Parts: sequence; C-alpha cells; structure tokens
Amino acid sequence: MLNQSELNLTPSPFSAARRQVIQAGGLIASSLAAPAIWAAKAPIKVGVMLPASGTYAPLGQAIRRGLELALMGSGNKWGGRPVDWVFVDDESKPAQAAEKAARLLTRDRVDLLIGSVHSGVALAMAKLARDRNKVLLVPNAGANALTRESCAPQIFRTSFSNWQTIVPIGKLMRDRGIKRAAFLTWKYTAGLEYSEGFREGFERHGGEVVLDLSLPFPSLEFTPLLTQIAAAQPDAVCCFFSGSGAAKFLIDYAQAGLKAKIPLYVTGHVTEGILHTLPGAEAQGVVSVLHYADGLPHAEDKQFRSAFETTFGQPPDVFAVQGYDTGLVLSKALSTTQGDTQTDGLMKAMEGLEIASPRGRWKMSKAHNPIQDIYIREVQGQRNVFKGIAAKALADPATGCSLA
Ligand code: PHB
Repeated sequence: MLNQSELNLTPSPFSAARRQVIQAGGLIASSLAAPAIWAAKAPIKVGVMLPASGTYAPLGQAIRRGLELALMGSGNKWGGRPVDWVFVDDESKPAQAAEKAARLLTRDRVDLLIGSVHSGVALAMAKLARDRNKVLLVPNAGANALTRESCAPQIFRTSFSNWQTIVPIGKLMRDRGIKRAAFLTWKYTAGLEYSEGFREGFERHGGEVVLDLSLPFPSLEFTPLLTQIAAAQPDAVCCFFSGSGAAKFLIDYAQAGLKAKIPLYVTGHVTEGILHTLPGAEAQGVVSVLHYADGLPHAEDKQFRSAFETTFGQPPDVFAVQGYDTGLVLSKALSTTQGDTQTDGLMKAMEGLEIASPRGRWKMSKAHNPIQDIYIREVQGQRNVFKGIAAKALADPATGCSLA
C-alpha cells in the first residue's frame, strides 16, 4: 500500500503500472483490472483557501458548497480517488495569503490548490503556485493580471476576469439613454479594475464618467460618498461591491433617498447571494450584467439548481456555480489523468476544456480563463431574472499573457 507522500512525490510507479495494464490489455483487461487498483488509491489532497469570515464569507460558503456538490455528483471520487479537503479561512487578507498557501503545500502536503474570492489573495496564491509548480484553480477572484501579464501554465480560472463582468454594462446603459454616470467601489485590485473597465465600456459608447469614487476595502461607510453622488446628480450610478458589504450598500442607497431618483446599474456580484438578507425593496429593479442569472434555459442549470436546493435547502448563486464548475474541471481533468495529480499531466488535461455548466457552455481560453456569455439581469423579488445577453462568448483580451 502506498503512503501519501509516495503518492505525492513520485510520478508514480503506481499509475505507470496501471497505464501499462491498460495499454497492454486493452479495454477488457483495463476494466477488469481497474476496480481493484482504484480501490487501493489514496485520497487526493486538495487545499482550498476561501473566506469563512468577513464581508466575502457568504461567497466562500457558496463556492465550498458548489465544490462539494460537484464531488458528490461524481460518486465522491475524482479520477477514481476519494478527496480530502483542507479548508483554510483566508479572511480576504492578502498580507497573510502567501504564508497560508505555503503552509498548505509544505505542512499539509496538498496535491493542488483552489482559491480564492479576493483578487489580492488569489494573486499571492498564484505567485506561489508558479514558483512551486503546483496547479491553482481560481474559483472567483477576477484580477485581470491572472489572465494577462501574470498568467502561467499552472493557473486556471473557472470564474471570470473583472474586465469581462463590467465592460458590457457600458453599452447597455448607453442604449438606455444614460449619458452621465458615477462609479463607486472598494479601493483594491478588483474595485480599481471595475472602475477602469466601467470607464472603458461606457466611454467607448459615448458616455461620461462624472464621478469615480472609492472607499477602503471592506469599509461600510458609504454615506459620505452617497452625499457626493446626490450633489453631482448623474443620470445613473454604477458600482462594484460584493457579499454582505453589497447588501449594506443597497440599503444605504435606498435610505439616502437615491433609489427613487438615480437608477442603479451594477456588476451582478452586487446582487448575488444577498437578496434574501435585505429587509425590503432596496434591490428591486436593479439591472446588472454577469455570467449567470436566475431562469437560464440550460438543462444543466435546472439539474444543478434542484440538486443544490435539495442538498443545502437554499437556491444557488453565481459563486456556487463557480465552485461547482471548479469541481467539474477537476473531475474531467483527473479522469483524463486517471487520478494522477502530477502538475504537468493535470495542466495538459485542463487545456482547452469545455464545460457544460449551469451558466451555459464555456471553454477554457488559451490564457486559462472562461470564454463565456455575459447576461443582462434584473432584480425581481429574490431573483436576478435573466433578461437577455449582453455579450456572447466574451473572452478576456489576455493582453500580455505569454500563453495566449
Ligand atoms: C475580487 O476580489 O476579484 C472579487 C471579489 C468578489 C466578487 C468579484 C470579484 O464578487
């Protein structure tokens, strides 16, 4: 019986032997030989960094549930091996991220990494994954650099780039007659990229950004900024916030009396996973763009939603979909490698993958980021109702990525 460290360190006499069985004996021999060998396989150790506290905690929980559901859907095994999760709360604190991820590799001896929600945390994890030649799957963080100048063979994203989930809103707002807009966000990698992306999309279609405001992450002191917006009287406000901070923003926007006066257009992150926490009609009618929506026509979505609700007693959101898709990517790749987690084989197996996702079919780009549809949605009740397509098969430009 192999122990865990042998399995981690060697390209494995074990899997080589099994491959020989398959090659020599063909299909019949392999299917006869496989079960006994697979049963003997040690668990794959997966290190997962997600926020379990702070404003992004609901996102971390949804991603975790999505991952777990995907694993259940493949009989609790990937590539014939059970999975041991090692979950770490990264608290959305970039300063501690490299150390926490290094501990997962060195102390916990995980085979591969998943993480995280916050762009700063994911950037630190990505550097480590590159330096230590370990596979990293990013189930949320949108930092553009991961698909651009800091892209790497080991880094695969299953969510979106920040650019993808903001640029299409510019045309939508212009089509609805909005000329002057204010933008509002948290001042950190993601927020700043959302601000840049908003300007790019809105100005390209002739709009003018009259105010560009930010506050430190994860501050909830929105009131002074809302006062500035009221004074500037833009035609509309656009913003990026997420998690429980986004819920607080929606409440404050309504309480400041702005909801009735200045329409709110948002990246869909703002209204995902938090609608049930709002006391009243604060989010009703808010329009957004995102790579997921409630009421998509795909069969995969119907199945996924029903399985998620049955398992967790709550409807899924985009973050759950991203966790689930991360599981689908791993499931496919590990079945190609027959459970072997060696970095080279795993990377090769993830190249160009196509995923039949609840969000719709998407393809892993050369820069390792989904090429996907971006939807228009509108809040009705507790749902982000699907209203149309804002951008079809949108790929991040991947500027400066050596893989693309
Ligand atoms: C990010 O930090 O990249 C981020 C966080 C939360 C979101 C989207 C992006 O909902």
